[in-house]
Amino acid sequence: MQHVLPERTPVPDFDLVIFGASGDLALRKLFPALTRRDAEGVFPATSRVIGVVRGDPEESRAKVEEWLKSEKISQEEIDAFLQRLTFAQVDARQPETFANLKQVLGKSQRIRAFYLSTPPDLFIPICRNLAAAGLLDGDSRVVLEKPLGKDGRSAREINDAVAEVLPESRTYRIDHYLGKETVQNLLVLRFANTLFERSWSYRDVDHVQITCAETVGLEARAGYYDGVGALRDMVQNHVLQLLCLFALEPPNTLSADAVRDEKVRILRALRPIVGPDVVQKTVRGQYAPGSSDGAPVPGYGEELGRESGTETFAAIRCELDTWRWAGVPIYLRTGKRMSERRSEIVVTFKRVPHSIFRSVDPAMTLEPNRLVIRLQPNEGVTLQMMMKVPGSGRLKLVPRELDLKYETAFEMRSPDAYERLLTDVLRGDQTLFMRRDEVEAAWAWIDPIIEGWRDFYPKPHRYASGSWGPSQSVGLIEREGRSWLD
Ligand code: BG6
Repeated sequence: MQHVLPERTPVPDFDLVIFGASGDLALRKLFPALTRRDAEGVFPATSRVIGVVRGDPEESRAKVEEWLKSEKISQEEIDAFLQRLTFAQVDARQPETFANLKQVLGKSQRIRAFYLSTPPDLFIPICRNLAAAGLLDGDSRVVLEKPLGKDGRSAREINDAVAEVLPESRTYRIDHYLGKETVQNLLVLRFANTLFERSWSYRDVDHVQITCAETVGLEARAGYYDGVGALRDMVQNHVLQLLCLFALEPPNTLSADAVRDEKVRILRALRPIVGPDVVQKTVRGQYAPGSSDGAPVPGYGEELGRESGTETFAAIRCELDTWRWAGVPIYLRTGKRMSERRSEIVVTFKRVPHSIFRSVDPAMTLEPNRLVIRLQPNEGVTLQMMMKVPGSGRLKLVPRELDLKYETAFEMRSPDAYERLLTDVLRGDQTLFMRRDEVEAAWAWIDPIIEGWRDFYPKPHRYASGSWGPSQSVGLIEREGRSWLD
């Protein structure tokens, strides 16, 4: 029987203002997501999207149209979206220019959402200038893109400044991983099925691996990425969010705060990695020349045009100091220019306590059960189990997989993370957004690693583009008798 979900609240009439509208994220993610949602008839007829730009609005409009075409969205859908799209020329650091935005917004009673798709150093001036222009009253809300600061202190400064002009209930901190279908499915897998919940602990789990590997390199993002690196760009947010959803205790309800309370508990339970510990428990890497998709590619320093100490790969062995997870190693890993694009959570269960099959073949090894939650690409879930090879003769066992693929299990389009998150902002649902204490708890664990790297591990190891990272990453897990599932 199919479970029918209740209709979600309709999207109310809105004005969505996008700061950084000619930037990379807006072009590649926000506008396509909005156009697709619009084409599904989700938006009220009079709702508007207002792009904030410093330069020529006509040029920006043309750029948006060109990008939407390259995304293979139909001209009819693009035209419909462009009808809603208007621009305002504002310089985020010039308060007087906010009058232009005020004029475009007019006196409408619609919900106002301000999406700050800008570098984090503009968050504070934009929020202050919006407040000073009287644009944050009523039911307005602000969306902050990651990264929220570059350490705990700068994140607190941003949070404090935002809190001066807007309550937490109207502040939306985006981590787009939370908008991915497969990430949301983690909660369903765990709490709509009894099968796994019972073995989801130190009793049955040997260890956990969380990998977010990408094949892309620096792209055109040197200005943002260099000096930031993989730990701040991916681990502080996406990877830790995956860890939270994997490890959290059952929330009492699916309400935003019930889920976020449990996530904060996990972040606070991460055992700190301090000082020289970083050398044992973490690996930093930077990609060197190699290949990607069969073609030769330059190394990070070559792309940048100079040497840099920024890491493009990070692996961390961590532990949670909780009853449920005591003593279970959790290996985190993320990197650019890796062998393949793959994000997954691998849960390896303990081996059987006693093998009755030894009597048949003393050399026979029983592989442990392994649950692989594939987040992207080829979204799905596999469960590795030992099976008997059919046939008479001597008993032979091999590992085989139960394999569930989303693509075949559900014959429907899987929306992009931003489609879901943008409509959640407009609907006022904060479940998939990070609360202030969550972001700060994540930084509280990351900060000592950054400091430890500065003092004890200043230079990342080089790894060939197209590999699985530096050999030290293999050492990190293999010296404990385990191996990455590559
Ligand atoms: C972003 C990072 O948040 O996530 C990028 O800034 C990274 O560096 C991207 O490439 C990965 O997102 P996805 O959805 O492609 O896994």
